Amino acid sequence: MPVSVKILGAKDYADSFDEREAFALDVLSGLSAARKSIPSKYFYDRHGSELFRRITRLPEYYLTGCELEILESRWERIAACVAGQPFNLVELGPGLSRKTMLFLERFRESGLDFQYVPIDISASSMDGLVDSVDARFPDLHTQGLVGDYFHGLKWLNHRYRRRNLVLFLGSSIGNFTREESCFFLRSAWKCLNHNDLMLIGFDLKKDIDVLLRAYNDSLGLTSRFNLNLLERINRELEGRFDVAKFRHFGTYDVFSSSMESYLVSQERQSVFIGQIGRSFAFEAWEPIHTEHSCKYSISDIEWFARQSGFKVQEHLFDSCRFFTDSIWSVDKAESVRPGAEGEAVAQPLGSERRL
Ligand code: AVI
Repeated sequence: MPVSVKILGAKDYADSFDEREAFALDVLSGLSAARKSIPSKYFYDRHGSELFRRITRLPEYYLTGCELEILESRWERIAACVAGQPFNLVELGPGLSRKTMLFLERFRESGLDFQYVPIDISASSMDGLVDSVDARFPDLHTQGLVGDYFHGLKWLNHRYRRRNLVLFLGSSIGNFTREESCFFLRSAWKCLNHNDLMLIGFDLKKDIDVLLRAYNDSLGLTSRFNLNLLERINRELEGRFDVAKFRHFGTYDVFSSSMESYLVSQERQSVFIGQIGRSFAFEAWEPIHTEHSCKYSISDIEWFARQSGFKVQEHLFDSCRFFTDSIWSVDKAESVRPGAEGEAVAQPLGSERRL
């Protein structure tokens, strides 16, 4: 079966100069602000992705184990939603995970007629991914798309008249703010057809001690994952951070129901970044915000679905009810179109907070 990778659009997404330029601009604006921050998307260079892979194997970081349990025990339910006609199994931001392999294995075994379409912004991770999928499933048709998610979904819709099942696993949505989540879901809705499906992983609200342990693990991997941001600035932007002078701090914000990660400067210091051509001053105990990981209630999830034009089909839970994979269908009927009167303005309880 053919395995191919398509680079979408005129822009070469593998262009590391552009990526570095964007990184430098984001670091400049983030470290110049009164409340310093660095976007969490920069965690995932080669070192950060490897640290994240190790975090997902820690029992304290329960999210991956819970989602694997759901997919392992309920895959037939998911397969039943798409059985009977050819479909695209689309994965947004795949990372060669055990979850993806589980899906592909079970779906192949049960004789479903599908092609696998991973979509990722990074050309280098896509090459590795399609090669491994091909080695493991030589008779599976795989079409890797390199580009942004919506560009990829639009291309797919023009190219193949098939139903889509779009996977967005791992509670990656939790790393978006509420506004970013609404924008992401509405954009996905616009690119999809009536009755297409999305399966989205959401980490649920739970005992705060469980959350604190998950983001402050005893092996210190999450701390290294967070500090890798400063090491990445040193490697790629000629930064002069002394990483030992910062510490990881992961805490739960009860108003926004989210784990928030920071890097805290342990002393007053100034750090020069060569590629930006200037120094940044830090007060003693001044934080840099690095990540937001939202935790949801079922009513929060249902609000997001309604708000963005989807119908909730089912919530699938693990045995501890720590996590849910929620199956949504695209509904393009007038009454539930995003922005339809009455729907778009309704906010969940406590909606003044950032979800
Ligand atoms: C990728 N993302 C859903 C993870 C999370 O839980 O927010 C990243 C992570 N941050 C710390 N540990 C893992």
